[in-house]
Amino acid sequence: ARTVKLAVIPGDGIGPEVVAEGLKVLEVAASQYDLAFTTSEYELGAKLWHRTGETLPDSVESELAEHEAIFLGAVGDPSVPSGVLERGLLLRLRFDFDHYVNLRPVRLFPGVESPLAGVGADDIDMLVVREGTEGPYAGAGGVLRKGTPHEVATQDSVNTRFGVERVVRFAFAKAAARPRRKLTLVHKDNVLTFAGELWQRVVKEVGAEYPEVSVDYCHVDAASMFFVNQPGRFDVVVTDNLFGDIITDIGAAIAGGIGLAASGNINPDGTFPSMFEPVHGSAPDIAGQGKADPTATVLSAATMLEHLGAVEAARKIENAVAADLKTRGHAVRSTSQIGDDLAARVAEQG
Ligand code: NAD
Ligand code: IPM
Ligand code: MN
Repeated sequence: ARTVKLAVIPGDGIGPEVVAEGLKVLEVAASQYDLAFTTSEYELGAKLWHRTGETLPDSVESELAEHEAIFLGAVGDPSVPSGVLERGLLLRLRFDFDHYVNLRPVRLFPGVESPLAGVGADDIDMLVVREGTEGPYAGAGGVLRKGTPHEVATQDSVNTRFGVERVVRFAFAKAAARPRRKLTLVHKDNVLTFAGELWQRVVKEVGAEYPEVSVDYCHVDAASMFFVNQPGRFDVVVTDNLFGDIITDIGAAIAGGIGLAASGNINPDGTFPSMFEPVHGSAPDIAGQGKADPTATVLSAATMLEHLGAVEAARKIENAVAADLKTRGHAVRSTSQIGDDLAARVAEQG
């Protein structure tokens, strides 16, 4: 049996609740394929910060690097100043482990009701390739004359040729492997002219190597509109870190809700462990009540299996989710009931 060393970071709020269900389903799927996970759990997040003032001790980060993958719930808590955990833990891992691709599928499963009128499963099937290590997330900038009437806060968007090209290459390869072979660059090159022109030029240059992929461009404001009124326009979308953050929450909303949206922070080179997590956050408003939908986390586990080469096991989880969603109706189930049902549906596929 192949054994995968998996680091688990349940995190804050609903994080631990959804991660428990993700692991439950993962174990069943893996066991059918002679695949075993040895998990080490890391108690990072609000509790550790309150106790020690640390978000990610260097020694823990070195240990995490020794794993094949990381499975994360969510971080962020109302008792911790905004950004401390988000930057100090989540973004630090994305940056230090070079997760330059943030892969976020947006698809409407059959039977799931979209808030968009007259839209069915065939109309929403896209893959958002969000850049993960640069843009306005880079942390460049600062504050001058703080607290004075002349205070200035700058938050620079960092776009390197190297960083843009590698994520654009990844997106083209994905587009070329999908039936529709379409790639849309989403940016704001009419205003963010320096960065926008770089992205456009790189897409054009890399695109020349992919004549079979049709290339399209949308400003991010228009793309936000088209996600809602013409989602069928999009196949693969490549975009900068912040635009990708925003449009994938829109993507989640049109495809059945944030409780279904999965993601993978990928280091395609394999130098560092990739990290899999739902798109949603720690949802403090429903934490501890068994109300969170673990499906996004379960689908993130499937993305992880696929990344680890266990493609069939990944398909089984996706089939289980698809079957569950098809028959879901309006019955209310707890987080763990949904996890049990999904695990049973994986088991029943043998
Ligand atoms: P959120 O995604 O946590 O919640 C937004 C809304 O969606 C809430 O009403 C919540 O109840 C609901 N929701 C989220 N996940 C759900 C699920 N699985 N099932 C059912 N409903 C669900 O976003 P927010 O409220 O903007 O942020 C809360 C905290 O989470 C903040 O500290 C934020 O920084 C952090 N955050 C972390 C991550 C992450 O760890 N990747 C992502 C986003 C936000
Ligand atoms: C996400 C989150 C994070 C982001 C925050 C919590 C740093 O919103 O994973 O989508 O902005 O990337
Ligand atoms: Mn987000």
